[in-house]
Amino acid sequence: MVVAPAVADKNIHQANAFDLSEEALRRQRNSKWGKYSPEVLPAFVAEMDFAVAEPIQQAVRRVVDGRDYGYPLRNGEKAGLAVATAFAARMKDRFDWEVDPDLVLPLADLVQGTYAPVLAFSEPGDGVVLQVPNYPPFRDVIQTTGRKLIPLSMRDDGTRFVCDTVEIAAAVNGRTRIFVLCNPQNPTGRVFTRDELLAMARFAIDHDMIIISDEIHSDLVYPGHRHIPLASLGAEIADRTITITSPTKSFNIPGLRCAVLHFGSARLRDRFLARIPARLMGDPNAIGVDATVAAWAHGQPWLDSVMAHLLRARDRLVGRLQAEVPEIVCRVPEGTFLAWLDCTKLGFNTSAFDFFHDRARIAFSAGETFDPAGSQFVRFNFATSMPILDKLLDQMVTAIRR
Ligand SMILES: Cc1ncc(COP(=O)(O)O)c(C=O)c1O
Repeated sequence: MVVAPAVADKNIHQANAFDLSEEALRRQRNSKWGKYSPEVLPAFVAEMDFAVAEPIQQAVRRVVDGRDYGYPLRNGEKAGLAVATAFAARMKDRFDWEVDPDLVLPLADLVQGTYAPVLAFSEPGDGVVLQVPNYPPFRDVIQTTGRKLIPLSMRDDGTRFVCDTVEIAAAVNGRTRIFVLCNPQNPTGRVFTRDELLAMARFAIDHDMIIISDEIHSDLVYPGHRHIPLASLGAEIADRTITITSPTKSFNIPGLRCAVLHFGSARLRDRFLARIPARLMGDPNAIGVDATVAAWAHGQPWLDSVMAHLLRARDRLVGRLQAEVPEIVCRVPEGTFLAWLDCTKLGFNTSAFDFFHDRARIAFSAGETFDPAGSQFVRFNFATSMPILDKLLDQMVTAIRR
């Protein structure tokens, strides 16, 4: 039996990867376009509405067309090594950061890559510092493992969101074991400066914490800002830093499940492996491996054009909101394709998510999932075509003005 592909090639292979129609997007079987009813426009989960880069598509096709589904070897070695090597080459190329592939553990995804170090380096009841608001699964990791969340507030200073570890000094003690850093930060879009990173690292060193540094959005940084891998800031910081990343956000392949966890030193890796056997982390699948290597090795021209589009989309979003709904406070994202909108001044009598869902027929990410006190915020995913972005903004403005 021949099964028809969910999306006909003609819809997805367009000259312009940024102009997929709503109709074509709705035919994809992903959570962004499938979760809500057809009259609701989605702008929530961090997926982009763009056709993937051709080198990735070719890599996937090679596996599929060859029915090449055995335990994968690449260059005569276990396939995970190809991911580690591609990661090391990319870090050198993009950030001038020397990475030893031997310190890289391939895995399926970053939430797994957060659970594992939390389990390895802390015990139930121990404290974990997390910037708030933050990517909701990080809160889940802390809660479901019985750790204690120590919130480090991201505060709006009038131009951007900042945090100051002095504010949590009293809440930290000898049982505060881990600092989860998200940089670039989801949902505020901050790209932390070298000084900010050094201050957070110093705080972790002074309190003997392991740092889990989520850098999944590091490719998505706008002009005027620069991503600095935390572990590249020196041996003392690296020795306590576990970096987790993957190409799933920047290359739009979250369904292919392949990521990396990097230990800043062999000592850190060995301490981790003494608690969590490498086999427990599993191996990424062959298609995910090849797609990841293709993305990191050959995807940059595609990503450059994505960034040019995202910059225009970001500026359109911020510009239109400022002009048409100045009550919404939106700090210009320095990285990511996400905007964190403070709707407090609009005085909704429901959550901001419910207002936009019910009245504007838009599904944003609900602010309270990033911060229990954030019900008047929504996170707006602007990685879509200009026509869809304008439609989202039109629907927002009309619902508010009504
Ligand atoms: C900050 C952050 N970390 C981790 C993830 C998880 O990514 P994945 O499921 O592709 O590993 C996301 C996804 O949105 C994210 O925004």
